[in-house]
Amino acid sequence: MRISASLCLALLATASFLSGPTSPAAAQPAPKAATKPAPITAATPPMGWNSWNFFAGKVTDKDIRAAADNLVATGMKDAGYIYVNIDDTWEGERDADGLLHTNSKFPDMKALADYVHSKGLKIGIYSGPGNKTCGGYAASLGHEEQDAKMYADWGIDYLKYDLCSFRGDVMDKEAPGDKPAQMRLMIAAYEKMGKALQATGRPIVFSLCQYGWDAVWEWAPALGGNLWRTTGDINPRWDRIYAILSQQDGLAKYAGPGHWNDPDMLEVGNGKLSLEENWSHFAMWAMLASPLLAGNDLPNMKPEIKAILTNSDVIAIDQDRLGHQATRAYSDGEVEVWTRPLSGGALAIAVLAAGDTRYSTHPFHLDLARLGLHGPQKGQDLKTGQPITLTNNMPIEIQSHDTPASPHRRAEVSAFHPVSKKWDVAC
Ligand code: GLA
Repeated sequence: MRISASLCLALLATASFLSGPTSPAAAQPAPKAATKPAPITAATPPMGWNSWNFFAGKVTDKDIRAAADNLVATGMKDAGYIYVNIDDTWEGERDADGLLHTNSKFPDMKALADYVHSKGLKIGIYSGPGNKTCGGYAASLGHEEQDAKMYADWGIDYLKYDLCSFRGDVMDKEAPGDKPAQMRLMIAAYEKMGKALQATGRPIVFSLCQYGWDAVWEWAPALGGNLWRTTGDINPRWDRIYAILSQQDGLAKYAGPGHWNDPDMLEVGNGKLSLEENWSHFAMWAMLASPLLAGNDLPNMKPEIKAILTNSDVIAIDQDRLGHQATRAYSDGEVEVWTRPLSGGALAIAVLAAGDTRYSTHPFHLDLARLGLHGPQKGQDLKTGQPITLTNNMPIEIQSHDTPASPHRRAEVSAFHPVSKKWDVAC
């Protein structure tokens, strides 16, 4: 079945939320506490940019500097995107002491980290528990402590640790055909790097990338994982994005401050995604409390893509301090309604038309009762910024994708931002 995207995103929020500043950090009221709690690494889902989705193996030092420059120049840094993450293909060879050197694309990693930090940003890097990364470059097997120390010496703030050759190098070799034993080996490998990072004394976000194997969400937090990929790789096609989205349902209980499900990095602005597909992807990732790691061509970002990536209301949903991931409240054929409780008694609602043109002439009717809501709910459309009142069975117009008049409109997205304080009480 060909799948396209349409999304209405609604947010039921308190009046104070709406009248406050719009930056994600400022939008969250500080919790009242007698004693100051210890800072949590990745207290909200990490936000930044990663090199893989646009550059893949071609990324260079120059590209990373340009990404840092552009995060600042475009306002993305101010919107919350602070990590500049180098993915695979920075690695060179190990010397006689086992010390890993960078390859010629990255002549001086410490200088690069200093440059990124000088912009008020943080820097991330990539490795894996096997001998080789997915790109065939040197990974960390047998050098975990040495590599972690080197990252800390460079000033690295984030590590993505990708399973890749560990499967062949260790799991298949040491426990051929024995899946449970293989999984234990895998978990031990992640635990080893988790401990090595902690031993550096530097707060380094630990991102597990092993595609969701062995229900990673159940064991990753205990070994210091701050986020973990839940699926295989994303690509810039709506059917893949929608498949990944669908696979997040049921995982909400594992997300929370310091530990997040990661449905993979953003493809917003990449490939041939239509504007509405870009919006749907971004808004649904925010509903999921996902890490928001842009992966687009920042120096050549189009204004409409920047507008999506810097939408402060959507980012505020993603960064809500409670960290509750959205769940699918109900679906009606190809239309799905997802909700996410927010701090201050607010509720975000997303209505996603993931299928074809069923509702192009017959609007979807929102069943508020199925969301536990009774009576009219005042709010705001997050896409238009206009106030809106949600009423039971209200028709929601979801535009047809593929209309001849606008061939790029393959998905419709709008958003609501209700302001009723007691959204679950009849008005
Ligand atoms: C795997 C990961 C990707 C990327 C590449 C790099 O496929 O899932 O996100 O890091 O490796 O080789």
